[in-house]
Amino acid sequence: ATSDVQASATGTVQTAAQPVSKEVTILFGSQTGNAQNIAKNAGKTLEGQGFQVTVSSMSDFKPNSLKKVKNLLIVVSTHGEGDPPDNAISFHEFIHGKRAPKLDDLRYSVLSLGDSSYEFFCQTGKDFDKRLEELGGKRLYDRVDCDLDFDEPAAEWLNGVLSSLNQSTGENAQPQATAQAAPQAGESVYSRSNPFKAEVLENINLNGKGSNKETRHLEISLEGSGLTYQPGDSLGIYPENDPELVDALLKELKWNPDETVTVNKQGETRSLYEALRTYFEVTVLTKPLLQQAAELSKNNELQTLVSKGNEDKLKEYIDGRDLLDLVRDFGPWDVTPQAFISILRKMPSRLYSISSSLLANPDEVHLTIGAVRYEAHGRKRKGVCSIQAAERLEPGDTIPVYIQHNDNFKLPENPDTPIIMVGPGTGVAPFRSFMQEREETGAEGKSWLFFGDQHFVTDFLYQTEWQRWVKDGVLTKMDVAFSRDTEEKVYVQHRMQEHSKELFEWLQEGAVVYICGDEKNMAHDVHNTLIEIIEKEGKMSREKAEAYLADMQQQKRYQRDVY
Ligand code: 2AM
Repeated sequence: ATSDVQASATGTVQTAAQPVSKEVTILFGSQTGNAQNIAKNAGKTLEGQGFQVTVSSMSDFKPNSLKKVKNLLIVVSTHGEGDPPDNAISFHEFIHGKRAPKLDDLRYSVLSLGDSSYEFFCQTGKDFDKRLEELGGKRLYDRVDCDLDFDEPAAEWLNGVLSSLNQSTGENAQPQATAQAAPQAGESVYSRSNPFKAEVLENINLNGKGSNKETRHLEISLEGSGLTYQPGDSLGIYPENDPELVDALLKELKWNPDETVTVNKQGETRSLYEALRTYFEVTVLTKPLLQQAAELSKNNELQTLVSKGNEDKLKEYIDGRDLLDLVRDFGPWDVTPQAFISILRKMPSRLYSISSSLLANPDEVHLTIGAVRYEAHGRKRKGVCSIQAAERLEPGDTIPVYIQHNDNFKLPENPDTPIIMVGPGTGVAPFRSFMQEREETGAEGKSWLFFGDQHFVTDFLYQTEWQRWVKDGVLTKMDVAFSRDTEEKVYVQHRMQEHSKELFEWLQEGAVVYICGDEKNMAHDVHNTLIEIIEKEGKMSREKAEAYLADMQQQKRYQRDVY
């Protein structure tokens, strides 16, 4: 089996005896928009088959109405250490809590999205699946856990759900469902599964000489694609692997780069070199990959590493290593190139928050990409997409792209609503797009930017643009934190603390707070700072302050685009 489908469980149908409702509720929990897209497309497919469908974000769904739902489909992704996406947090909490109702009449099925390179693969989907069963629900169709390449398993899941629903409602229409809906009138034909080859117009380094960082500003043409986007959306890019890494792999394996291999179930072929350069992921190791590799190589050491009881050692090995490490560490590879590439994951696309507004830059999309370079296990490592952008992408080159809409990070509909933007480093990207849009539309709401980076002189990304917006009144306030210009580190959250009184006043006036950037450290600390500010300035208990922020999130007044 190719790795594309390894994570898709074979679902079995459990038919219920009682007459069955044609009402279906589809709830999604989505951070980057994939789960949302699948849910919406599943909704269209089911409607086409005569079902009455409600598709809703988990955060917009009234938990009390769960009791009335007869057929429930859940599409949910997992983040970080097995955490639910922001718009699934409250529903996840509710359903696991004491107030969750008995659901004896419920039939349900779960589709979970995840990444098998993480330990808690698809955990949120697993949580919902287990809990709904505990509450009395019956599975319409077994849960399917999808890896990054989710199209096929998602389509299989939907087909399984459909045939189960049709079976129990006595219908027999069963056309093939796909997870990708056909484009509607006015929509672009280009999508995640059919990316547009876009021309690079501009590619510059935003950091000054002597900086520890390299941040690329890319301008890309969407001309002729029909693709459109809103501030807050992301651009998906299919990158290519580093040619030096691919050469090293082929040399190590002593394989002929021109040998033809079949890369997928559809029977598409490539040269081995092309397959490793553009079709497969070679920079990340996953548990399933190592398990399959152990079967191929018959290497004792590798077989021990993947065997029961060695989970911690396996996890430690995988961390920070790539396919070249695997090949070097566990030879000999007495297998055909075809057998070997069949265990690899398809190259996943990378999502970058768009840093331009289409109104200000017709037919263009701008990105702000931090170059990722580090050393691990005695070898220099490079981010696949960011280093392609930094080292191998010139004006005139083309790159496969698509737009990923993100409803979870949007300017307020009311142009008078104040906004607070917290975006250190490349996290500032969507706020450039927000400012361009508000300038173009003449929005009059107040705005406040918190930006931070290491050094004022070299790392103040888009400095002149912010200063012009401040001068023109498009940006009302700007506070910056340069962490390495002073003895003691200052971060964006320290600036927020310094202005806590005014910041809380903005919240009370209905401001929307946006956070973009690093999740693990920055977004987490900024979140806690917000709670502290609300606690102090609102004279509330910690609990009340947390509830205040949770309520803001519920009202879409606290939005995060974090990675
Ligand atoms: P540092 O690199 O000096 O630690 C953008 O990367 C900026 O975010 C840098 O100034 C970086 O500081 C800072 N940063 C690092 N950790 C942070 C955290 N936990 N909260 C806020 N900012 C942080």
